[in-house]
Amino acid sequence: MIIKTALFQCSSEKIGQCPKTDKPEFAFIGRSNVGKSSLINMLCNIKGLAKVSSAPGKTRQINHFLINDAWYLVDLPGYGYARVSKNKRQEFSKIIGDYIRQREMMYCLFVLIDVRLEPQQIDIDFIRMLGTEEIPFGIVFTKADKLSATKLNENIEAYKKKLLEEWEELPPIFITSSEKKMGREDILDFIENTIQ
Ligand code: GTP
Ligand code: MG
Repeated sequence: MIIKTALFQCSSEKIGQCPKTDKPEFAFIGRSNVGKSSLINMLCNIKGLAKVSSAPGKTRQINHFLINDAWYLVDLPGYGYARVSKNKRQEFSKIIGDYIRQREMMYCLFVLIDVRLEPQQIDIDFIRMLGTEEIPFGIVFTKADKLSATKLNENIEAYKKKLLEEWEELPPIFITSSEKKMGREDILDFIENTIQ
């Protein structure tokens, strides 16, 4: 898949403000600071398309990016960021919940997981909820550049084992580094095959 054009279309505070469209969309979710916005920039090969910050809680709205005039990448606020107020957290969690349940053209939700960390309960719970709600999803490990090849492999195997405690099959899994542009083709090929 070649990305010829990637355009920021809009930021929506509420699900009702999202584009009314029949184009497929692929969204990125995960804990705050896991690298959702960075991954979108890496996939599109445009620095600064989605806003990135080393401080968690940067993305606060639903951001739609139109790709090749044919489908969308969607950047969502992170979950689980302790340092925003309880009200704000509830607001983010409502935005995320409304988004994943109501966007009929959402073909796949990519759940981003920081590959350096042990499985986090908040992610495991979120993934379980996706199963219950029958939301199509894949798992994207981020920040692979921060680990040695051996440790990377160990952590991914440990994560798979954890998932298999609850799941009969593993979802599609991608290993990425936005820093090193790793995993780009895998994700873009997956998207291409999914929309065909
Ligand atoms: P929120 O919008 O706050 O939910 O965060 P986010 O998930 O969009 O994360 P963002 O892309 O803003 O990245 C957070 C921090 O992680 C930034 O300092 C990035 O430079 C860094 N980062 C993201 N991806 C990678 C990666 O693959 N490797 C490394 N080394 N750093 C990364
Ligand atoms: Mg972000």
